Amino acid sequence: MSLRLCALALSLFIGGYVASASPSTPFTCARVKSQPQAWVVSRVDALVVAAHAAYEDDEALPAYERVLGGITGTIRRCELSRDEGFVSRYRELVEYVEAAALDQRPDHELGFVVPDRQYFAETRGLVQIPDFLTTRSFLRAASRDETLARAKSYLRQLNKQREPSEQLVFFSYKSRHLGTPDSDESYGRLLIVVPGNAGQGVPEKWVQFGVPDARRPRVRNVSVVSTIARPDGTSSVYFKDFYRTYRRDGSISIKGRWELGFGDDNCAQCHKSGILPIFPVAGSVSPDERQAVAEVNRRFRRYGSPRFDKYLDETKLGPGLGSATSADRNGRFGEDFVNSTLGRAMACAACHERDDLGALNWPMDPIVISSYVKGGMMPFGAALDDSQRGELYEKLIQEYFAADNAHPGILKSWLLGRLR
Ligand code: HEC
Ligand code: HEC
Repeated sequence: MSLRLCALALSLFIGGYVASASPSTPFTCARVKSQPQAWVVSRVDALVVAAHAAYEDDEALPAYERVLGGITGTIRRCELSRDEGFVSRYRELVEYVEAAALDQRPDHELGFVVPDRQYFAETRGLVQIPDFLTTRSFLRAASRDETLARAKSYLRQLNKQREPSEQLVFFSYKSRHLGTPDSDESYGRLLIVVPGNAGQGVPEKWVQFGVPDARRPRVRNVSVVSTIARPDGTSSVYFKDFYRTYRRDGSISIKGRWELGFGDDNCAQCHKSGILPIFPVAGSVSPDERQAVAEVNRRFRRYGSPRFDKYLDETKLGPGLGSATSADRNGRFGEDFVNSTLGRAMACAACHERDDLGALNWPMDPIVISSYVKGGMMPFGAALDDSQRGELYEKLIQEYFAADNAHPGILKSWLLGRLR
């Protein structure tokens, strides 16, 4: 993740430089306004190609950010968002780039519509780590692999005093997807799900401690994602990273990562479904805790469709992987493809769409998607062999990012306003 941040900082620098240093951009405002379609088509193509490259390879992120910055720059410079005709004709593009470019602003690292400072101030009470998880002895025990058993026995003691509906669900595991923000190499986790009470406005909190492998350097990160059910059947989701500070006297203090000056990440970009289910490295969960993994994933599946409150309107990012129509799919992959085994398996958007688990749309994380498809978890309940999974994955990505005019993919079709 730190790599992504570096790439982003670099692209902001280069992007800003190029924009101001090249007065000879091929499209002047006058030309954009007189030939909007030509400008839009050329920029959408560039954006989709760059997004695809960035999906495949982190190193292509700066180039993508430049294209994105170029488009938002022209929209601003030429005041296109005040041009009613333009906005109504190219609404999807205007709204998409606005949403996708939020995290390019230095005070919007979370990618939300309000500055990070405001987000954390307003959501403070929703993402605080409960006091019983910040006691001196628990923090110490939870911060080392060698002492995790002690941390867990404390949690079990707590459970003895808690009502059945308030039981903490916890286990340790190895992530197959990523290290922690402060330590790329640390895949160990201790996850504690603290039940909430929507009626009383108390969110359910998933509190996750990064835990170093035995004899490895300390890990600072502790993350929280909280979720609260809304009357309309959706769930509002909130995020916060904390950092532990290890003091000489052995005590450990804990404070917001952003507040400590260590920046932040665009959580929603990976957390499309709000909370993410846990799909640990095989064998990394002890047999007596496998039940707890199943239980937290069961809880996840009961949550309403993810929403990011007033902080992000994810509909602006458009439909996601696997959302193409049957006609489109047959046109791209061949007559009657939709009735083949693979064709049927491509229906991700039956569940991964806004009113269910949330759409898997760009910007999104390739690691999570490929791991779920190739690792055999997705599509839910489908029996496919490895080579079919490889092909399924390739086809999903192709169908989403295709930039050719004959068969524009999902992203391009959306940005050109062809999915209305
Ligand atoms: C690069 C992708 C990525 C980003 C960015 C990201 N996460 Fe996650 N996060 C994951 C994945 C994947 C999981 C599921 C566990 C696993 O496989 O490691 C996860 C799990 C979690 C969990 C455990 C609960 C759950 O949802 O499973 C918390 C808490 C969490 N993340 C918090 C955050 C916060 C807060 C941010 C932003 C500051 C953030 N994450 C940004 C990928 C990401
Ligand atoms: C029938 C509904 C259904 C279909 C179809 C489906 N999924 Fe899922 N998906 C789920 C559920 C349920 C989970 C949570 C899994 C768990 O509890 O461990 C999930 C989890 C995921 C996740 C991790 C969570 C997230 O939002 O990042 C990814 C990635 C994913 N699915 C991708 C896909 C892809 C790609 C396809 C199509 C090839 C697909 N799914 C098809 C139901 C579905």
